[in-house]
Parts: sequence; C-alpha cells; structure tokens
Amino acid sequence: MNIILTKDYEAMSDAAFCVMQAVVTRNPSAVLGLATGTTPLGLYARMAEDHRKNGTSYLGVRTVNLDEYVGLGMESDQSYVYFMRKNLFEHIGIPLENTHIANGKAPDLAAECARYNALLDGLQQDIQVLGIGSNGHIAFNEPGTPFGSTVHVVDLAESTVRDNARLFAREEDVPRRALTMGLKNIMHAKKILILANGAGKANAVYGLVRGEVTTALPASILQLHPDCTLVCDEAAASLLSL
Ligand code: PGA
Repeated sequence: MNIILTKDYEAMSDAAFCVMQAVVTRNPSAVLGLATGTTPLGLYARMAEDHRKNGTSYLGVRTVNLDEYVGLGMESDQSYVYFMRKNLFEHIGIPLENTHIANGKAPDLAAECARYNALLDGLQQDIQVLGIGSNGHIAFNEPGTPFGSTVHVVDLAESTVRDNARLFAREEDVPRRALTMGLKNIMHAKKILILANGAGKANAVYGLVRGEVTTALPASILQLHPDCTLVCDEAAASLLSL
C-alpha cells in the first residue's frame, strides 16, 4: 500500500486532489468511484475550484457512488444523491445522466441491487475514493461482510448509526438500512484512494495498514489490492509509527 502522510485535513485534501486530477487529466472519460461522508468534502471542494478556475472538463466523465440509505432520495437532504449533487456534481458541470447512485427508494430492493451490480460490472472504476469508518468499514460493508460480496442491502452497525447521528436532527432519524457496493465491487477498481483524518480513525487505519487481512476489519482487504493509496493526516496515522 502506498501511504501519503499529511499534516492535517487540508493537506490530506490537497494530496487527494493531486491523485484524482491525474486520473481525470489522463482520461477525460474516466469512471470515478465516489464516496460520501465528511472526509472527501475537501477533495470535492478542490475539484470544484479547479473546474471553475482551470476549466477541467467533466463532460465525458462517469461516476458511480458507493452507497445510499434505504428510503431516502433527492427530496431528503440526508440522502447521498442529494449530498453528491450539492457538494460536487452541480459544481463541475458533469451531465447528471453520467452519475450513478443506487436508488434508495426502489420498490424492489433485490432488483435494485441486481441492476446496480450489472451497471458496475460495465463501468470499472478508474479510481475509487473511499473513507473509512471508525470500525473499519468501507462503504457500508460492516465487520463480518464476506470479501466476495457484491451490491447488497445492509443493516447498519450500531456504531455506524451513532457515528452518522451527528448529521441528523435525532439519532432515531438515521436510517437503519442501506444499499451498498460490496467488497468485490470495490476491489474491482483499477485504483483505490482511501482517505482518513482525525484521531477517531487511528485504530481503523492501523488495522487497514498493519492488521491481519480479516473480515472483522473490512478495510484490511485493501492490502490485497495492487494499486491502493492511503492519504491520511498525522492524527489518523498516530498508531502506525511511520
Ligand atoms: P466520514 O465517514 O467521512 O463521515 O468520517 C467515513 C465512513 O464512514 O466511511
């Protein structure tokens, strides 16, 4: 695993942007695997600023997102489709029909998993951006998820509901289920860019880099990926003794 250690969140976002920028510049029709959460917001702000200032084009780029809450759609400002539009898509001039997210409001969730999985099979990510949960999850693949998993419906771990409660008015409002890419869909990406900041991620980052490869810490599977870059700040890297 390639590790880029940065001082703080802003420097982490700068480094992440450099990796992303290289992919988009090299291939104007790249497939970008994108993530939600607070971690990639600095990266997305830099992509938006670069588009505005330097005119980097996203007209031919396609995107696929990791996950979505069951029951939420564009009408909810907590949905991931809303998050992506407001924090990135509206600022980079990408045609919305080129952006793909599992539909959390699909009446038949099994059929939606199959549809999204087939779509991912045909859209291999040139780069997949990831955050990491404090319990080592990637996307909503919670501890215990099989490494061979594809798109599926998941019951969120209690720790994930608690971590995400800060973004909702009340903890009861956090959806308990989500649609997520499986670990196999993530590992299918040509390149992985995983970001982590803050002391709350230190244990998970240790497991990602130095722990045994185990379903108990889903991110540890990334040790088996041939092109994985971790960009993390000093607080998240504090247990690595780099
Ligand atoms: P965060 O979430 O970026 O909001 O910390 C990361 C994750 O749970 O994957």
